[in-house]
Amino acid sequence: MRVDGLLERMVRRLGELEPLSEPWRRAFRRVRRDRFVDDFYLSDENSGEWRLVRREETPEVWWELVYSPDAVLVTSLDEEGLPASSSTMPLLMARFLELLEVEDGVSVLEIGTGTGYNTALLCERLGSSSVTSVEVDPGLAKLAEERLRRAGYAPTVVAADGAGGYPPRAPYDRIIATCAVPRLPRAWLEQLSPEGLIVTPLGGGRIGRGPLVALRRRSDGSLVGRFHREGVSFMWLRSPAVDRSMSFQATTRPPKVRRVEPPEWLLDWRRCAAADLFARMEVDDLELAWVERKGEGWERALAGLQDGSWARLVPDRTGHLLLQAGPRRLWEVYLGAVEHWSALGRPGLDAYGLTVTAAGEHEVWLEEPRSRWRWRF
Ligand SMILES: C[S@@+](CC[C@H](N)C(=O)[O-])C[C@H]1O[C@@H](n2cnc3c(N)ncnc32)[C@H](O)[C@@H]1O
Repeated sequence: MRVDGLLERMVRRLGELEPLSEPWRRAFRRVRRDRFVDDFYLSDENSGEWRLVRREETPEVWWELVYSPDAVLVTSLDEEGLPASSSTMPLLMARFLELLEVEDGVSVLEIGTGTGYNTALLCERLGSSSVTSVEVDPGLAKLAEERLRRAGYAPTVVAADGAGGYPPRAPYDRIIATCAVPRLPRAWLEQLSPEGLIVTPLGGGRIGRGPLVALRRRSDGSLVGRFHREGVSFMWLRSPAVDRSMSFQATTRPPKVRRVEPPEWLLDWRRCAAADLFARMEVDDLELAWVERKGEGWERALAGLQDGSWARLVPDRTGHLLLQAGPRRLWEVYLGAVEHWSALGRPGLDAYGLTVTAAGEHEVWLEEPRSRWRWRF
């Protein structure tokens, strides 16, 4: 199939999976993703190891994935073998771009240029002069800029830490981040125009992994917005300005071990994201994590960063082993919060929202900003 055919098919599938307005449909149809990626990594389903997909060696696989709406193409790995950059799934980029509510003439700051594919979509829709994109890795920024120029786009691409925004071109009507932050960096609040809008995945810190939020600025300078109904998993914004450090001293006492059969949905981060968010907010000193076991799925880990309690839910051939130690039985504490959340009618992620005050205080709420369920952090 020629590139036109592949593009057409991807856009058709995109529209089936995600609401896509005509201007964005046009932009997706015009930007060729194959111009923004070279060889990329795929995670092997069985071993969990990264496998390189080479354009020259397996062209059919390469082209098929590049034009799949739900394929994330990991383009670089860090020293620990974790993804350091990728071309996000077009499906997710479409979601982010629709949430951005752009109209002709708005200026956009993008954080996390990566391959430049999403930058190209923004340029196609709004014109290159309206787009500024910041990438922390200078090599990636240079490569993306070259690819953008070759594809006919000339946005301002800056190699810098996106936590600081990019003051020379501020204010921005829209800010879109393709890496997750635990709180909104101060610079983004300062560089957003009075009626501006920020779309960003949240991740790390108190909030955990999952929420994608679109925040609109109000007349008092605060930002308010609701979470999207589906959780997303994004690589984190790497910045010394963003503190994700956790000091966790696990108790040295041997853990208590027993066999448990947790319900299936508590073993799938997407299905339990809304319950987990409630538990994180409602229970003091509770950290929830998912630890990948190479080729053997995921292990749930729970920790009290202050009191050293911890729990692990380890899958084995016949079910799960629960290991717990420390002053609190964290799995039971967590299940108590999940029960509480169930009693509230199992509110989904889109029942929650976030307010960020002009002074930068963050508050997650349930149902509406003034609700009785509010958590400041
Ligand atoms: C998911 S990838 C980008 C996806 C991109 N939108 C695309 O389609 O190619 C996230 C990017 O954020 C970058 N990044 C991480 N921390 C950053 C920071 N502090 N400032 C700017 N970019 C950052 C990473 O290097 C990575 O390239």
